[in-house]
Amino acid sequence: MIQYQGQVFRPPSEGNSLILQATLGCSWNKCTFCAMYRDKKFRVRKLEELYKEIDWYDEQFSPPTKVFLADGDALMAKASFLGELLDYLHNTWPEIQRVSCYASPQALAVRTVEEMRLLKEKGLTQYYLGVESGNDHCLAAMEKGVDSAEMIRVAQRANDAGVRLSVMILLGMGGFALSREHAQDSAKVINAIQPRFVSTLVATPVAGTPLWDSDQRGEFDHLDPIALAAELREFLMNLDLKASVFRSNHASNYLALAGTLPKDQAAMIATLDRVLANPDNAPFRPEWMRAL
Ligand SMILES: C[S@@+](CC[C@H](N)C(=O)[O-])C[C@H]1O[C@@H](n2cnc3c(N)ncnc32)[C@H](O)[C@@H]1O
Ligand code: SF4
Repeated sequence: MIQYQGQVFRPPSEGNSLILQATLGCSWNKCTFCAMYRDKKFRVRKLEELYKEIDWYDEQFSPPTKVFLADGDALMAKASFLGELLDYLHNTWPEIQRVSCYASPQALAVRTVEEMRLLKEKGLTQYYLGVESGNDHCLAAMEKGVDSAEMIRVAQRANDAGVRLSVMILLGMGGFALSREHAQDSAKVINAIQPRFVSTLVATPVAGTPLWDSDQRGEFDHLDPIALAAELREFLMNLDLKASVFRSNHASNYLALAGTLPKDQAAMIATLDRVLANPDNAPFRPEWMRAL
């Protein structure tokens, strides 16, 4: 059977995917807002264990169409390991349409373009990357481990390998002081990357993280829903994308928007203008949780 180790996270769009923990934890594990894998030490699991889980699933259920390789940055595992796992998945279920994983900037710097291209041919066609911000001050404050130039450079490697990128931006990460710069610089970085998917989440202090501690000390400059809407508007205004799907539908968002860019850009900005002009009647969702 499949025995998941610790808490398992996956992107919203992998809700119907088979989740396999190819790796445990996150090789970086330092981002100040992230509590996901703090209790785990990063390691790559044994292929034999994963083969057993795949065989067990195969006996119990019909073949999955999508597989998500957990945990936090499975792309950090050696390409030979990932290649063998992908071969086993494909041999067991030739009907699989997509395998995807989280890819930290650090993992994208380690895997060569040739490796990523080869893994893509074996089915690993999509990475989820937390860009979080394009502002160097915000990136340094959240200890992402890369600045904006390096973020663009590593994302470009995935593009060069032909792998689809789904990237995340953390609204509110710069507080009020840096809201405008965070929005504008994030748009610049996203424009340089031209990802297939871009989504926004709202930076949420979670217990056990440095962001939580600074929030407890009253140092985290929370944006209210209206300021978050203004920040999102500034971000959308500055996006110049050729063909990307945008979503702000993660549970942490107060406003759920979705559309294709550039086609729906003006309509989404108009929605935000209406919200900002008349916040009392805005369709804000309730605050989701103070702790994930
Ligand atoms: C597993 S990581 C993404 C992949 C990879 N590890 C990386 O950082 O590039 C999950 C994503 O969830 C989001 N996230 C994590 N903790 C969060 C929090 N406290 N508030 C809002 N979003 C959060 C961030 O956008 C983060 O990039
Ligand atoms: S955001 Fe990603 S890279 Fe940063 S600690 Fe969390 S899982 Fe690791």
